[in-house]
Amino acid sequence: MFVSSHSAPRVPFASLSFARIVTATTVFAALAGSFVAPAPALAKTPPPKAVLDASAVAVPDRYSADAAQQIFAAGGNAVDAAVAIAFALAVTCPDAGNIGGGGFMTVFMDGKPYFLDYRERAPQQATRDMYLDDKGKLIPGMSLVGHRAVAVPGTVEGMWEAQQRFGKLKWKQVLAPAIRYATDGFQAEPGLQQRHAAAAKNFAGKTNFDAYFSNLKAGATLRQPELAQTLSRIASDGGREFYEGRTADLIAQQMYGHGLVTKQDLIQYKAVWRQPLIADWNGYKVVTAPPPSSGGIGLIQMLKMKADLKQAFDGLELNSVPYIHLVAQIEDRVFADRQQYIGDPDSYRIPADKLTDDAYLAQRADEVKPDEVPGATPVKGGLGDSLPEKTQTTHFSVVDKWGNAVSNTYTLDGSFGSGVVVDGGGFLLNDAMDDFETSPVAAGAPGATANDLNTVAPGRRPLSSMTPTILLQDNKVSLVIGTPGGSRILTSIFQVMTNLYDFGMTPADALAAMRFHHQLLPPKTIYFEPYHPITGELADQLKAKGYTLEGQSFNGDVQMIRVEGTKPEPAADPRGTGVGRVMP
Ligand code: DON
Repeated sequence: MFVSSHSAPRVPFASLSFARIVTATTVFAALAGSFVAPAPALAKTPPPKAVLDASAVAVPDRYSADAAQQIFAAGGNAVDAAVAIAFALAVTCPDAGNIGGGGFMTVFMDGKPYFLDYRERAPQQATRDMYLDDKGKLIPGMSLVGHRAVAVPGTVEGMWEAQQRFGKLKWKQVLAPAIRYATDGFQAEPGLQQRHAAAAKNFAGKTNFDAYFSNLKAGATLRQPELAQTLSRIASDGGREFYEGRTADLIAQQMYGHGLVTKQDLIQYKAVWRQPLIADWNGYKVVTAPPPSSGGIGLIQMLKMKADLKQAFDGLELNSVPYIHLVAQIEDRVFADRQQYIGDPDSYRIPADKLTDDAYLAQRADEVKPDEVPGATPVKGGLGDSLPEKTQTTHFSVVDKWGNAVSNTYTLDGSFGSGVVVDGGGFLLNDAMDDFETSPVAAGAPGATANDLNTVAPGRRPLSSMTPTILLQDNKVSLVIGTPGGSRILTSIFQVMTNLYDFGMTPADALAAMRFHHQLLPPKTIYFEPYHPITGELADQLKAKGYTLEGQSFNGDVQMIRVEGTKPEPAADPRGTGVGRVMP
């Protein structure tokens, strides 16, 4: 077992309580020899009471649902199930599920909220201008494909931290389903084959992607023996094996001479427990992602500004032109703030409290005008994103019958990450470096970013939009929600929550409803999705209002669980192949 030098004692909860009982018994037995006393009743912790009718998951594929079911059947809790799901998806959803990427986990355990940041970090040798040529121009694709796109992965450390702190089962048990899928193989869905084909074209001649994934065909069985070995090493030696053991050596070898991640970077990698962002909204506590995600701040801002604008929204039909126009103005302000104020909290003091403050948001909401021509008043906030079409990330939601919950979003960033597979390790590495501002321009120049918040720097975590969220009512889980989608993550979650709470839809209808995306830049642009395109009269009216309509290939894959009384109601986005399953 690799011993971590940096974090809280890694004693599993179960063995800790066992150790305590042994000590108490031993001390009592020793004392009993010296004098006679009535045997006191040994303090026993009563087993936790089930508060829900069942456990439940909403996950991106059936394999990960089966993995969770196995874990719950063995007595595992929501964190055990979440960790088993994450490792299973690293095998069965290789485009997004991962051990070579990173993410965020929002946890509600024994009545308390937690947030684990296992986001990737820039390697120590990374520099601000590493993606620029000698004329200061961005080298196209360098932060997206190949070795130099790779940041130090956080997923295994994240899963290890979460499971050691909160899990009930043995670490090995939660890895078992993933090892089985890697050894025996799994069958890809047609959607995965399509995403594979697009990625393979992208990586052709640039990475070793094909050597590992050319057999990925819908319906065919894909076995991943090297990945099975890697997972087995991690299972038997613990999570730090990935950072200090043979797996770390394989990653360093893969990077050597091509990429920047070294063994030292891996040894130094730490997942961080942060205070989750918590806001009061609509009678709920919204527990969500703090920086380095921009998503939690943005989601809270959207929800609160919409509530402040109740009068303006009253009576408006969902997704009508005036409705979209008000939401778009809210989004302009959210993305302006995101650009100007949010980055890695370990490098900067991020004013999360100020940005989610009621008075501040009331004042920002006041700037929203139903009759204003789109883009008429510039909203401050710098460059914004150019909205790259990045898929994939993946999200899953879990509740257990004891009332605990996990909302987890993790990512390789682009679909199949950087396309670089660790030779001998059998897993893909991320292209998280592209989430930095890779093309910094001197402040003041045309198109300049407002600041240095998200430029590349050694050890820094890139800005993210991932927003794993839990809603509590009376300190009980009411909703677990999240999605992939880059900057569309927060706007998608906002829309589904609005559908649920403002329009009273069922979870299935709330997910199926049309979604659109808008952010500050490009200006006046409403993105629509293939699942529910904006056409006909609505399209004409939006154009007449001054908006440009732009199609996008993807607008999220929301996995959520609503809890009604004691009944969990999982629901998977009809846009994907997700599974909502109740597990009695
Ligand atoms: O951290 C982020 O915000 C992005 N790397 C997430 C990318 C993503 O969601 C792509 N998925 N569709």
